Amino acid sequence: MLRRTLLAGLPATLAAGGASADSYPGKPITLIVPFAAGGPTDLMARLIGERMAKELGQQFIIDNTTGAAGTIAVGKAVRAAPDGYTVSIGHVGTHVANGTIYKNLNYNLLTDLEPIARLPQNPMLVVTSSQMPVKDLGELVAYLKANGDRVPGGTAGIGSGAHLGALAFFAATGARYQLIPYRGTGPAMQDLVANQIQVMVDQAANSLPQVRAGKIRAHAVTAGKRSPAAPEIPTAAEAGYPMEISIWHGLWAPKGTPPEIVARLNAAAIAAMQDSDIRHRMEDLGQDIPTPEEMAPAAFAAFHKQEYARWQKILEAANVKIE
Ligand code: MLT
Repeated sequence: MLRRTLLAGLPATLAAGGASADSYPGKPITLIVPFAAGGPTDLMARLIGERMAKELGQQFIIDNTTGAAGTIAVGKAVRAAPDGYTVSIGHVGTHVANGTIYKNLNYNLLTDLEPIARLPQNPMLVVTSSQMPVKDLGELVAYLKANGDRVPGGTAGIGSGAHLGALAFFAATGARYQLIPYRGTGPAMQDLVANQIQVMVDQAANSLPQVRAGKIRAHAVTAGKRSPAAPEIPTAAEAGYPMEISIWHGLWAPKGTPPEIVARLNAAAIAAMQDSDIRHRMEDLGQDIPTPEEMAPAAFAAFHKQEYARWQKILEAANVKIE
């Protein structure tokens, strides 16, 4: 009885497993990543997590929890103790689109999480294996219109960034390809390089290193203008197929995490994004870095809500759902 009363009487900080901002962080922090190691979300998590660890003086433990395009990971993140020792990274797919696509989620993306910080965003590239007999977007569209139902393409599951990119590609070009789900676009990229799959609309951060190494080919960037990181890649609009989609990432904590702990995590994320090495690495991968003002929890929460409404309209109009 005492324990229940004590817990009920304590301020949220102590009731949440004894976390208090003064002693925080008193142990390693788990960062849940909803996709397999080696993909763009995992890369972002490791880069930023390592720098946040330095800032906070505590280790970050990366927990790649994969499956169902991130919905398993987010369910785990929502149920974690709100004590600042479990945070999660996600993006417009896992923390926005999935809220509309998956009809039976056991969590609410807008009310069950505390936004910590908005993270960089990057456009997507329309990429093919180097063996595909096409040399530009126009030829790819023609090839897929003739053979698309026999051409395997990669995603990280329904609702993943690579799936949203595929939907945008289908809508812009009228061409389609087979959607093969992977546990992340890290493993999907391995199969694209090996010509096991032939096409993907993939985050620039994931594809650019392989394009530069000559292992895959990029035919378009899904932005209004060419990326400063890859000015040689034309926009999809230049080939007559205007399509704009970019994948932004963010950090969240479970609902009820004390605001002073969210503030500590936010400050560490901002410090990471101000780090010149990390900025250089991100910009080289086509990432646009948000300002500290855009990264603030309240600003990020407003952005998250706005994106949720925007994608809800797009996905309902396209009737994309899983019952
Ligand atoms: C996606 O949504 O396509 C993911 O970001 C893939 C990944 O990070 O592995």
